[in-house]
Amino acid sequence: MLIAEKATSQQQCFSEKLRQESDRLYSKLSLLGWSKQVCEKLAPITLKINKLKKEKGVKILAHSYQTADILFGVADIVGDSLGLSKKATEVEENTILFTGVDFMAETVKILSPQKTVLVPTRGVGCTLADSITGENVKKLKLEYPGVPIVCYVNTTADVKAESDICCTSTNAKKIIESLESDTIIYLPDKNMGENLARITGKKVITWEGYCRTHHAISPRKFEQELNDNEVISFSHLECRPEIVKSSTKTGGTGDMHRFLNEAPSSKKILFLTEQGFIDRMKVEYPHLNLVDSNMICPNMKENDLVSILQALENPKEENYITLDENIRRRAHKAVIRMLKY
Ligand code: 13P
Repeated sequence: MLIAEKATSQQQCFSEKLRQESDRLYSKLSLLGWSKQVCEKLAPITLKINKLKKEKGVKILAHSYQTADILFGVADIVGDSLGLSKKATEVEENTILFTGVDFMAETVKILSPQKTVLVPTRGVGCTLADSITGENVKKLKLEYPGVPIVCYVNTTADVKAESDICCTSTNAKKIIESLESDTIIYLPDKNMGENLARITGKKVITWEGYCRTHHAISPRKFEQELNDNEVISFSHLECRPEIVKSSTKTGGTGDMHRFLNEAPSSKKILFLTEQGFIDRMKVEYPHLNLVDSNMICPNMKENDLVSILQALENPKEENYITLDENIRRRAHKAVIRMLKY
């Protein structure tokens, strides 16, 4: 074959791949109103990322709050914080690229120190994780000797290292009920601590930390839906106690996802959580009537396809998650205890 003919045939083959990729993206993203033109623009970059991750032996893990182009375009495993922590330990590849916020990628590194853990954007914070330090926990221990400390997964490794056990919104209730003590310290989410105190009947000492996205869900904003018998409302445990009390169900995004497998298609379902999760569910359960919350976590939205490609193609120092080994080992005890629940 002549060189010119070969080049034309390669070009045709690439154009066909692009067309297939944009069709694949459109089949999912059109359910959220994304246009064919947008999917055509995304296709070259998702193709490149998907090719590169295979060549380099990288698995992409994404939290459900990421944007839909990440979730349906390039992620290999999508889930809630508990599910992702568990799945990360089962990944065969030596490198994990975690798209979410820093503390989640740190949890992966705590559990799998032998793996390379990359993040697309470094320094993606969380108002909960940023509200407390290991030093604060040490002081609490002196103030309340012998009281077990349960820390939410939304904490840095040094806070986990000072805690007895870690938890996520999906297993927090079970973990608190499993502890013998009637009094526990729950860090750092005050709303969640108060919700868990009411649900478990235990005395819960709390910290002044809040998730800014869930704390902004006010009863006034969702008054109509919360009082409508045709709407099933499912609040995240990070919501204010008055929201959790007046919603039909409560839990983490893992519980919300499981609920959809048996949810009635006759009712509207309002998840009082970040919109990214609702978008994911709209694609996965198109027959259900899901109500938008329009609550956005700005931190979770700091990652995009461009930063994912950069971290895969040419990772810089800030893309690597590293932890002090002493802190990691102590944090590991609290996290591994959590994985039994
Ligand atoms: P999930 O445990 O439900 O995934 O929630 C994580 C989180 O950060 C909520 O704001």
